Amino acid sequence: MARKKLMAANWKMYKTPQQAQEFLRAFLPLVEGHSRDEIAICPPFVCLPAVVEALAGQSIGVGAQNLHWEKEGAYTGEVSAGMLVAVGCTHVIIGHSERRQYFGETDETVNRKLQAALAAGLTPIVCVGEVLQERESGLTEDVLRRQCQRGLRGISGDQARTLVIAYEPVWAIGTGKTATPQIAAEAHVVIRAEAAKALSKAVAEDMRILYGGSVKPDNAKALMSEREIDGALVGGASLDPKSFAAIVKW
Ligand code: PGA
Repeated sequence: MARKKLMAANWKMYKTPQQAQEFLRAFLPLVEGHSRDEIAICPPFVCLPAVVEALAGQSIGVGAQNLHWEKEGAYTGEVSAGMLVAVGCTHVIIGHSERRQYFGETDETVNRKLQAALAAGLTPIVCVGEVLQERESGLTEDVLRRQCQRGLRGISGDQARTLVIAYEPVWAIGTGKTATPQIAAEAHVVIRAEAAKALSKAVAEDMRILYGGSVKPDNAKALMSEREIDGALVGGASLDPKSFAAIVKW
């Protein structure tokens, strides 16, 4: 059975609650009736309630960009999975390369966060991907295998039914350089094979693997037409309603 694509907006550290509502006022009419793909918006934490409210009655997901693995406690500045669920979140991005690069996220913290997200019933979007130097040294497959093996450690196929993985080659994020559909598809095959080993073949077959890294309205069709690519995680081009709607409707 064909996997339903997920088109997710990663707003990173952009937009206030008011700007998020303005975005949705413009965006919703543009995607009205669009049911071919699933859509999710991942704004900064402080925008989550406003986005949930503006999307009431719509079948569009709302995701956070991070979470902490503990339920509660003395962890200044952190937000738990249960708190995200309580404000109406459905999705959460885990292990984005910017968090790995600037905030010390490791495969081990990704694994703990993934366990917490799944236990809370959130749909996790786990990010993996190689940096340029790794690609140029022929290490892409090794990096993807390691990130998947460690990230998925101890998780059963049953638990992981909602799991989404995003392949985001770091050299393509915010750089305007996009992986070709072939490069992405090759990476997706490696990721799916690792997921099959870690979870089960059936779960891996149904699992969506998104591509992220400079997805734009003019390259979305070529990428999304590739059988191995099950959606997109879109940064810069998701900040403008017309541009994100054009990507969603590739
Ligand atoms: P980009 O970001 O679309 O701006 O390259 C993608 C991401 O980081 O998720």
